[in-house]
Amino acid sequence: MAAVIPKVSELVQKASEALLAEYGCEAETAVCAPGRVNIIGGHTDYNEGFVFPMALPLVTVVVGKKTSDGICCIKTLMPSADEPRMVEFQVPTAENPLKPSKPYWANYVKGVIQNFHGPVSGFVAVVNSSVPLGGGLSSSAALEVATYTFLEAITQDPAESLKAKALACQKAEHTFANMPCGIMDQFISTMGKAGNLLFIDCRTLESKCVALDDPDIVILITNSNVRHTLRGSEYPLRRIHCQKAAVMLGMKSLRDAAIEDLEKYKDCMSDTMYRHARHVITEIKRTQDCEVALVNKDYQNFGRMITECHYSLKNDFEVSCPELDELVALAVEVPGVFGSRLTGGGFGGCTITVVKQDSVDAVMSHIKEKYRGTPTFYVCQPSEGARILQL
Ligand code: GLA
Repeated sequence: MAAVIPKVSELVQKASEALLAEYGCEAETAVCAPGRVNIIGGHTDYNEGFVFPMALPLVTVVVGKKTSDGICCIKTLMPSADEPRMVEFQVPTAENPLKPSKPYWANYVKGVIQNFHGPVSGFVAVVNSSVPLGGGLSSSAALEVATYTFLEAITQDPAESLKAKALACQKAEHTFANMPCGIMDQFISTMGKAGNLLFIDCRTLESKCVALDDPDIVILITNSNVRHTLRGSEYPLRRIHCQKAAVMLGMKSLRDAAIEDLEKYKDCMSDTMYRHARHVITEIKRTQDCEVALVNKDYQNFGRMITECHYSLKNDFEVSCPELDELVALAVEVPGVFGSRLTGGGFGGCTITVVKQDSVDAVMSHIKEKYRGTPTFYVCQPSEGARILQL
């Protein structure tokens, strides 16, 4: 019942065939970068808090070849990308930098080229992906990080560090997609490790791997297949709200605040700002506690906090929607489920459910029978971050 996740080699094969058909050349370089789910730590990254994501077996591949004519030619095979699906532009120079334009999908590629740490050469390339576009699984970060990895490979000029690479990709998203995202998505797509979640301190950018490799436990991703239009405008507003609340508390960010600090200022702020700040402060603590629970293999508490996170995102932070609430409520009804929550920015997209392997079919049947929409399921385990592939 779960969707079959295509093998990376199949994605590469299709992209290589398209490269030959479109540009008349054989692939010399192939790379991939994964999408992600965040297990806990919702909307904490831009508050300098902690996040606890994992890389997915759903990936974006870029396959191609370096050229010497100073032209970047790129085609996407993603049917849901906006038209045209093939673009060409000059390698940027100081006088002629790249600027965002249509089609939107190509802005992620252009933004990364513009923010690459060294000189870029021309290339021909084809993008293919198993990360659903706009489903809250970070298809944009996967494209950015895959593009960066492709440029590193063709120029043989790796980034100074993986952190620098993730930061350049985040800058591409800020400046070319106009999305003021935190660092989580690009970080995990760059640094994910198979069998592990990554516990990231978004203030220091230090991270550590925590194993989630028990074969009896899987992560079920349920795509609600809805996306509410609020999504785009609400994210920047939440960011501003959090920043304003921190300023009111006399702090650099909500990372520094304890719930007692917030209580002192409760009467000076609107109820909305109070609840938004309360989500962030409690969520940063929950994320730390969740890491401890996973280290202790205490899946009951691990899952309980994940579900608590969902209700905090719904009631306090107000980024859920009826479809996601329904998916979470249905999932936690099934025995064998430890916890469930929306993942990503909210207002649609996906939920994650931490569940015993032998209960996952029951969860999917239950949701399929009761959910008002048409869900898509992926059964996943934590996977590897971006890499150059052997052809
Ligand atoms: C989006 C952003 C991330 C993060 C999440 C919410 O995915 O890109 O940086 O803020 O929302 O946790």
